Amino acid sequence: MKEYYPPLGCRDALRLDFNENTLACSPKVREVLGRISAGDLTRYPEREPVEAIVAQYLGLDAAELALTNGVDEAIHVLFEAFLEEGDELLLPVPTYTMYEVYASATAARVVPVLAGDDLRFPFEQLLAAITPKTKIIAIANPNSPSGTVATREQLLEIARRAPHTVVLVDEAYFHFYGETILDQVGKIPNLIVSRTFSKAYGLAGLRIGLLAGPVELMRWIRRVLSPYSVNSVALACLPAAIEDETYLNWYAGEVKAARAEFEVALDAAGVHRWASSANFILTRIGPRHAEFVRQMSAAGVLVRDRSSDPGIDGCVRITIGTREQMLQAATALNETLAALRA
Ligand SMILES: Cc1ncc(COP(=O)(O)O)c(C=O)c1O
Repeated sequence: MKEYYPPLGCRDALRLDFNENTLACSPKVREVLGRISAGDLTRYPEREPVEAIVAQYLGLDAAELALTNGVDEAIHVLFEAFLEEGDELLLPVPTYTMYEVYASATAARVVPVLAGDDLRFPFEQLLAAITPKTKIIAIANPNSPSGTVATREQLLEIARRAPHTVVLVDEAYFHFYGETILDQVGKIPNLIVSRTFSKAYGLAGLRIGLLAGPVELMRWIRRVLSPYSVNSVALACLPAAIEDETYLNWYAGEVKAARAEFEVALDAAGVHRWASSANFILTRIGPRHAEFVRQMSAAGVLVRDRSSDPGIDGCVRITIGTREQMLQAATALNETLAALRA
């Protein structure tokens, strides 16, 4: 297993490198944080009551949902629960790095399915790659770093064609897209959906995610999941976060408006990009991608080099923040490109 170090370091700049909320969480969450006492922190966290609240909010039974320490733990636990020697994990690539990282901690084999140049979801190729050994198919929808999506029909067809597998649909970026398959949880026996509170909700630092799936599969997941992995501060804040839909909708709307404006800026600058349904855009900068990232950082804007991902040589992913922040990003982009082209 390779060691994985996210390129965090000094991030005292405009953070367009990790697809976070670039502003803040809901003020309602801040109020809850202010009320947490020293005594509260002496207790072990109790997650079942909050799981019941979140399940009800999402229209699920409590037994169909598990809160996790971010979706990263959800992926880790899912893979630990189901992947054994001789199994295959089917992965459309390029995609979220941590699927491969956690798979490498198991004895299973990763079977990558490469998207074409348009980075569209490789639906037919994925169906063709399903074998009796396929145990999990992990699909980020929208996908990162491409921002492209699989349709509901495609996801349903995959689940139908691979009844012996667990199909994970990772909806980390759901709020910037709007389409979901969560309503099928419990109806399709091999479908599991993950959601995070790290992106639109602005709670990446609290580490909260969830897995939703049929009770039968969730029983296996609960066997592996640590009982205290979601901390009490996160659990205290979560009800306020889901209640404040006004803030969530405002932030998602702001990002979508900023995304449309930044697309125009990229097009005007002659930068190739892929259409995105998430809070980031993948751009093709070309051979000078590393210099581009360095110069953007020097101009106060952090962006993420994805050039070493499969099939996207020379590409850089830019998180979308607020319209004001993206004006700053567009200025830095134009200056950086001018310097590189000079
Ligand atoms: C597709 C996808 N899934 C999951 C995650 C991680 O989410 P969390 O912060 O909840 O661990 C990310 C983060 O970038 C992601 O891009």
